[in-house]
Amino acid sequence: MIAPTESKTTQAKEPLYPDYLPHYDPLDKVVPVGEFEHDDPGHRADPAMQNLLKTATDVFDLSPHCGSELRGVQITELSSEGLDELALLVAQRGCVVLREQKYLDVGFDEQKRIASHFGPLHKHGWMPHPKNGPEEFVIVYDSKDDLRIRKSWARKSPIQFHVDQSPESQPPGLTFFCMLESPDGPGGDTIISNMHTAFMSLSPSFRKRLEGLNAVHTTANPILREIRDNGNMANLKRGITKSIHPVVTVHPVTGQKALFVNSSYTQSIVGWDEEESDYMLKFLFDYINRGQNFACRVRYAPGTIVLWDQRITQHSQTLDYAPGDRRHAFRLTALANKPIPSKIDEDDGECAKDEGRVMLNLC
Ligand SMILES: [Fe+2]
Repeated sequence: MIAPTESKTTQAKEPLYPDYLPHYDPLDKVVPVGEFEHDDPGHRADPAMQNLLKTATDVFDLSPHCGSELRGVQITELSSEGLDELALLVAQRGCVVLREQKYLDVGFDEQKRIASHFGPLHKHGWMPHPKNGPEEFVIVYDSKDDLRIRKSWARKSPIQFHVDQSPESQPPGLTFFCMLESPDGPGGDTIISNMHTAFMSLSPSFRKRLEGLNAVHTTANPILREIRDNGNMANLKRGITKSIHPVVTVHPVTGQKALFVNSSYTQSIVGWDEEESDYMLKFLFDYINRGQNFACRVRYAPGTIVLWDQRITQHSQTLDYAPGDRRHAFRLTALANKPIPSKIDEDDGECAKDEGRVMLNLC
């Protein structure tokens, strides 16, 4: 394990956003959103994106396969059409980064209203929300006065690529991650990885083997960790959530196929013996962890918002800054469609190329 360096922070003694501090109440309960009809805003978007980009001063990609950054765009000033186009861009690029956003200071109601444009907001089963704020806000707070996050990742790598809340029957689509305060120096980045590129980088016959499979997703392990770490003070706002989803899904707007198994929540492949399932999932999780060639890395500053589409990406924290440095953010997570299974395409001759590859190796 890499030991983080000693803190050299000049951060304010008190948190800059006290209204957004995490509230832990073991008696807290939330009612899940339940089933709903999802109308994806990306379907309504004009592909020219003129409403989104009319004030943009710079647009650039963070890596070839994932992430774009927009400068000169304030999310609070976007029209309904502009928000639709933002959803499309996030679906196409996996994630979009916005800087110096006024969104941080417009208050709970307006923040919720804008995020709700993309779907009903998820209510988390164990992460804290603000004491006097809506239960849809997920607070990420790591500081010397609250070391719960550090404790939960003690003695293991913080790198764990995942989809937030994939066990929901209608898992999230577009997700807001808004940085209120971040360590002065580097550290605390999010790595976001494109699961369409991950899938398409596998060999054609292997891809066809994965399509049509289903997997079990459950919140059981994270809930057990919450109990292990916090005992009677564990935040247990909902029971265990469990769903069966396709291993390869299709994005409803772009039609792109993506790998949809993740190391936080995917437990097993339906119908396979335990050893077979564990073997396959371990391969896929390792493959995703190694996939730096289809990922981007986002560095934060206060006022940064990162939006990612959970249907086409996975992400990981880094937790590489000094313990005690304050990192304070909130997340709002719009739920979306039931995952759409990808269908095995007619044999398009691609598998024959696999055989050709073997023949070349033998020569
Ligand atoms: Fe996450």
